[in-house]
Amino acid sequence: MKIVKTIKEVRAQVAEWRKQGLTVGLVPTMGYLHEGHASLIERSVKENDRTVVSDFVNPMQFGPTEDLQTYPRDLQHDAMLVEQYGGDIIFNPEPEEMYKDGFSSFVDMTVLTQELCGLSRPVHFRGVCTVVTKLFNIVKPDNAYFGKKDAQQLAVIKHMVEDLNMDIKITGCPIVRESDGLAKSSRNTYLSEKERQAALVLSRSIDLGKNMVKNGEKDCAAVIKAMTDLINSEPLARIDYVKIVDEKTMQQIPALDRPALCAIAVYIGTTRLIDNFFTEDI
Ligand code: PAF
Repeated sequence: MKIVKTIKEVRAQVAEWRKQGLTVGLVPTMGYLHEGHASLIERSVKENDRTVVSDFVNPMQFGPTEDLQTYPRDLQHDAMLVEQYGGDIIFNPEPEEMYKDGFSSFVDMTVLTQELCGLSRPVHFRGVCTVVTKLFNIVKPDNAYFGKKDAQQLAVIKHMVEDLNMDIKITGCPIVRESDGLAKSSRNTYLSEKERQAALVLSRSIDLGKNMVKNGEKDCAAVIKAMTDLINSEPLARIDYVKIVDEKTMQQIPALDRPALCAIAVYIGTTRLIDNFFTEDI
């Protein structure tokens, strides 16, 4: 397993693999890898001859008041995990390698980004689409793997690939949770012990919503109300949103009459956490 810092080196390695007729999977990450990322790497290793894991905290997808400076980083630990799960390369560029002086081209999207996280993080998806496009152009993978925890990101990437005729298969992988239900996230490290306990209200509300849908509830407002009431019963929690949207368009829907995504974003103290379920996965 190699750590590669430059675009030139990744391209040379991938070209070498291509010459040998090998397939390539890409797992885009911002590092500080956990079992959620490990599941993506495992899937890529299973389905491709070689796997590249990008490890880049992308400044462009953070708003001015967000946690770019404090975002956790640990390349040594990431390297061990990628090695353990059978990845071949970590691509860990410096910001100046990805965004040269004078950088001024962006990939942006309307509609799908006007809901959910796009409302509270207005520059986020432009940053994600731009960096993912760059990673796709650099690595030119056959397959790329994203977690379903970032459900809107997954929908946005799938849509972008379709819109822009990118010849890459996008695979969404299930959310990986701690034993007590909390969805794995690099941002969980921000939580104090008390907040860590309080954060369980996210997965509890997801379970509640899932059970209501499983038992036949079709009215989105009823599901949203029950989940909202539960989250509001936790004093350390502050809701950003609890919404149900069409799985593909990300537009809110009144009734569960099509494949849908139920997504929540909740502040626990100052840490913003997300969780969700797809009705198709129930
Ligand atoms: O999901 C993430 O970690 C990031 O948004 C991604 C896809 C690696 C782009 O920076």
